[in-house]
Amino acid sequence: MAVGIFDSGLGGLTVWDAVDRRLPDLPVVYLADSAHAPYGVRTADDIYALTCDATERLFDAGCNLVVLACNTASAAALRRMQESWVPADKRVLGVFVPLIEALTERQWGDNSPPREVAVRHVALFATPATVSSRAFQRELAFRAIGVDVEAQACGGVVDAIEDGDMILAEALVRSHVDALKRKMPDPDAAILGCTHYPLMEECFQSALGQDVRVFSQASLVADSLADYLDRHPDMLGTGEAAFLTTGDAARVSDRATQFLRRQITFQAA
Ligand code: DGL
Repeated sequence: MAVGIFDSGLGGLTVWDAVDRRLPDLPVVYLADSAHAPYGVRTADDIYALTCDATERLFDAGCNLVVLACNTASAAALRRMQESWVPADKRVLGVFVPLIEALTERQWGDNSPPREVAVRHVALFATPATVSSRAFQRELAFRAIGVDVEAQACGGVVDAIEDGDMILAEALVRSHVDALKRKMPDPDAAILGCTHYPLMEECFQSALGQDVRVFSQASLVADSLADYLDRHPDMLGTGEAAFLTTGDAARVSDRATQFLRRQITFQAA
């Protein structure tokens, strides 16, 4: 039995790590589509096709439930997949909703009308494809009113992280935070809307200042998965835990081990 976790590359490991801490006995098949990362500079059609392919591989690996631990795939592909592609006996979940529920102080599944919430000025950092989808603003509008969102497309950050060039990643984060602050000088909250960005969380926090509350997804998604599996224990598939990549398994293993500070061994998908 296993659930699938998917990302274009290494970012979803931040979610995998939180899931592993929250549900240590849950076997997970993690798939990194490293050969096609980054997704954030691709068209919505391209992201849809790649995400369907990757999800199919996870179904084939014995997963009935797949978590898209990738905001870009969740923003650009998930709704279309759920409407017309996901088979009736499988489920595909994204990473947006748990984050927005936390930001808007809602319990899971609270579908009451939108209302005023504590945060007023929110900075969203995400990939270019996530920003242009406006999926975050759409989901937020279902739940909150009076929240001003300023989105910053953080070009280059995912590539730098995938290449292990953390000096470049840090310089890019600081320059994207500067650009955001020129548009919104005093955000009260910031969303790290890409699962790669928690690897740079300290850098975001120090560039934003300690007064800004930084929301990142990993533990929120892990809690929401635990809750989902409590309600749907039948969604555990038949697969066995593994780390799969469409890229160079040795190289991806080295980077993953460096980021999570624990041995992670990928194999070819
Ligand atoms: N971790 C993915 C996300 O959350 C990165 C997307 C990319 O490959 O550009 O959006």
